[in-house]
This record gives sequence, structure tokens and C-alpha cells, in this order.
Amino acid sequence: MTYANLNTRFSQTFALTTPIALAPMALASGGALAAACAQAGALGLVGGGYGDLLWTQREYQLAQTLLDGHTHRLGCGFITWKLDEDASALDWVLTQAPRAIMLSFGDPRPYAPRIAQAGALLICQVQRLEQVAQAVEAGAAVIVAQGAEAGGHGMNAQLGRGTLALVPEIADWLAAHAPATQLLAAGGVADGRGLAAALMLGADGALIGSRLWATQESLAAPGAKAQAIQTNGDGTARSEVFDILRRKNWPAPYDFRAIRNALHRHWEHRLEVLKAHPEVARLDYEQGVAQADFNRAHATVGEAVGLIHDVPAAAQLLATISAQAQARLGAFNAI
Ligand SMILES: Cc1cc2nc3c(=O)[nH]c(=O)nc-3n(C[C@H](O)[C@H](O)[C@H](O)COP(=O)(O)O)c2cc1C
Repeated sequence: MTYANLNTRFSQTFALTTPIALAPMALASGGALAAACAQAGALGLVGGGYGDLLWTQREYQLAQTLLDGHTHRLGCGFITWKLDEDASALDWVLTQAPRAIMLSFGDPRPYAPRIAQAGALLICQVQRLEQVAQAVEAGAAVIVAQGAEAGGHGMNAQLGRGTLALVPEIADWLAAHAPATQLLAAGGVADGRGLAAALMLGADGALIGSRLWATQESLAAPGAKAQAIQTNGDGTARSEVFDILRRKNWPAPYDFRAIRNALHRHWEHRLEVLKAHPEVARLDYEQGVAQADFNRAHATVGEAVGLIHDVPAAAQLLATISAQAQARLGAFNAI
């Protein structure tokens, strides 16, 4: 099914039937989810995350197998600053003729030439207007404007921007300085209202993380998905807590949004103590992960968690979101 009102530059470039990209969520956007999204007409980005070569190879090859060679909507995403330590997973994906590579959190310019040489389109995720020029300079075909509502990593509370004002501001900047560069909205898009809003704000589509995290194909733990269903949009927070507990050496100014569970509440106002003496808290956290106890282990979702009430198949979810957006935009046109 194609959705006439949702036909955008982004859907045309990637031969999509709906202008949605699966966020390349580390450890959640595996091959099954990326393939399901691609088959359903969206762009499927495998979550290459921290650049684990074996994980990336396994999940990307799974997607290739499930798509039976029809990989024109398949790509992969990586955390840019982590590539500075080891880019072997990126280099391997580039041998597989990916349609797109998405880079977030760091300077994409060192990696842009080899991505272009492999024939892949570059997608760059940014959190502030001041980062856009660098992404354009890197040759990004698509910019993702990520608001601070987003699940997972993003800009911290001091520097983070809300999606509603960030997207049209970047749309205006691109219209003036790089009109061929496309724009996706990210952060808080979880249903057809969000997708329609993204298009109304001047984006060419939306990149969806949290809502697609809570699908059958996502690799997120079932207990985490169950907790998300019980949590409303007030129940997440941004902080460094889970990065410290997971030994992730994230550079400033990025931090992490997840469900604000009991362990998070315990440490969120004592970050200096946690940084100085993380051992006991890490043990607590690791036991939580081992026991699938999500009062201690983290569930990575953004404010859109308040719009998650079930765990459908990805194709069903994408069809629902697209039909809702189509209806919203149709009703708007009729006024
Ligand atoms: C579970 C999870 C893991 C994520 N991992 C990554 C990642 O590895 N790389 C990345 O660029 N973005 C990552 N993100 C952020 C997404 O790219 C995107 O900005 C975000 O999900 C959009 O907001 P939403 O969650 O409200 O849809 C992650 C998000 C989630 C929810």
C-alpha cells in the first residue's frame, strides 16, 4: 500500500511507500526489525551502535537473508565517536552495498569519503542547529533533527532542543543553504499524528525509535517492553546514570534517556558519588540485567513511551501510523 499524501522526497529517494526510517537502535534494531521495516516500505537501518563487528555482521546478514536480495531499503547506523576507536564494522558494511549509512554523535567528515565511494547515501543525526553545516559539509543526503524527547542518547538537558521548534528551524536553514538536503524529524514520533506533524513542520519524513523498539521483531528484552507499556510519558529521564553503570565512556555533551526506574532514582542526584565509587551500583545493575529486573536494568525509550500501549508486528505498526497520518493530512487538506 502506498500513501499518496505521504509521498515525499525522502520516500522517492529510497523507494519507500511511507516516509519513515527505523532508527538504528543499538542492540534493538537487529536484522529482523530492519528487514520487517524495509519489507513494509520504510527504510530499515540496522543498529550498528558501538561498532561490534560480529554483532553487525550477524544482524546485517540476517536482514539480507530475510529480504532475499531485495536490500534497496536496507542500511546501517553507527555511533560516530566510537568509530574513531574502531571502524571495522563500518568498513565491513560498506562491502555489502548498503543503501544508506547513518552517523550520529560526532564529526561525520572523516567517514564521509568512504561512504560515498561505496555508493551509500549519508544520513547524519544532529541535535542543534549549529551542527547542521558540518553535516552538510560531509555531504549528508539526509539530516535527522533529533529533539531531546528522543529515547537513547542525545544532547543533555542544558543543550538539548525540543523537536517542535528544532525541525522547522533546520528546515528553514536547509531551504536557504542546502535545498537538496533532506530532513527527518526524530524524537517523540510514535503515531500518525507525529508523522503528520513532522511533515507539517517541513520535514521529508520521520525517524522512529522508541515506538519501533516496542515491536515483536525488536531485540529489546520482553520485560523491558512490558515495563514500557506500563509507563507514561512522565516516566523517563535524561542523565548519565546508565552510561556510568554500563561503563560507557560517552563524551560530553551527550547523555541518555531511558525509563526512570528505581535504580536511576537512587543515583540521579548523587552522580559525583556514583562516578567516584561505581562498584556497588554496577553490581546491582548487572544483577538487574541478569535477572531481567527492570527496576534496576534500564529500558531505553523516550517520552513517546506514553504512546506505547502494545507490542505489535512492525509491519502492522507502520501501516497504522501511515494510515493515521494519511487521514490526518487528508482531513487537514479538506478544511
Ligand atoms: C533503544 C534505543 C537505542 C538507540 N540507539 C541509537 C544508536 O545506537 N545510534 C543512534 O544514532 N541513535 C540511537 N538511538 C536514538 C535514535 O536514533 C532516535 O534519535 C530516537 O529513537 C528518536 O526518538 P524516539 O525514540 O522518540 O522515536 C536509540 C534510541 C533508542 C530508543
